[in-house]
Amino acid sequence: MSTAVFTAIKQLDDILLVDIIENLPQGEAQDLGHALSILGVDIRVRGTNDYKDMEGSDIVVVTAGFPRKPGMTREELVDKNASVVKSIAGNIKRYAPDSIVIMTTNPLDPMIYLMYKTLGFPREHVMGFSGLLDSKRLAYYASQKLGIAPSSITPVVIGQHGERMFPVPRLSSIAGVPITSLLSKEDLDEIVKETVGAGGTVTRLRGFSSNWAPGAGVSTMMESIKKDLKRVFLTSVYLDGEYGLNDITVSVPIVLGRKGVERILELPLTDEERKGFLESVEAIKANLAQIPKEYLP
Ligand code: 2OP
Repeated sequence: MSTAVFTAIKQLDDILLVDIIENLPQGEAQDLGHALSILGVDIRVRGTNDYKDMEGSDIVVVTAGFPRKPGMTREELVDKNASVVKSIAGNIKRYAPDSIVIMTTNPLDPMIYLMYKTLGFPREHVMGFSGLLDSKRLAYYASQKLGIAPSSITPVVIGQHGERMFPVPRLSSIAGVPITSLLSKEDLDEIVKETVGAGGTVTRLRGFSSNWAPGAGVSTMMESIKKDLKRVFLTSVYLDGEYGLNDITVSVPIVLGRKGVERILELPLTDEERKGFLESVEAIKANLAQIPKEYLP
């Protein structure tokens, strides 16, 4: 719903809410429709339990799946969410075969991999939003130490959307100045720790997983696609030779436009950073191995 709210306020396009729970998406659609009526936002929002209504959609956002509970890691959700993703993939393939698919279901990198393999869509059309969330969290925490607005910080966090994500402070900068030259080692360590733990912290404090930041992230990605803005996002995509890696979904910088992932940018990592990135990739591989074999084509 937070994705729908941000998307409606951005006035990107009509919105269809799909859920298997009877009446829920229809009720949510009416409530959001009433809100938009108050705000004077003329966007049509509908709710359905029938995947067939997705026909003609140009972007499909998958938010379905079990969220983590306090104390859980994202990786613990593989088994439960793989079957959800598998069944949704079948419906997207059937009813929206030309769509661009954005995933939020955790653990994100393996779920994108499963979605991509099941759909058989071009890799430019399947992605997650993970690194965007992780990197903007880094900007948020760095901003608090620096007294500089988060929007003026260009943060870099790549790799897994999980405990092994890989923040790169040396490449995170403000007007070209790396944050490493503006902050003490202790402050940097703290920012990195807060960033890696952010999703867990939110879940622990409020008792359930984040939704506002993911909704904001996904709607911002959709805006770049719908308006062909070609903005750069850190996002999990399927690599086919980039970074010397194959057959893996991992967060790296990409250019996002009407065609989906239009370019993948390779960061100039030092040997040590590359090692850290590859360790993060290994964590994703270990997670991929947990997807039940019969689910992968
Ligand atoms: C997060 O980091 C839900 O994985 C998401 O908050």
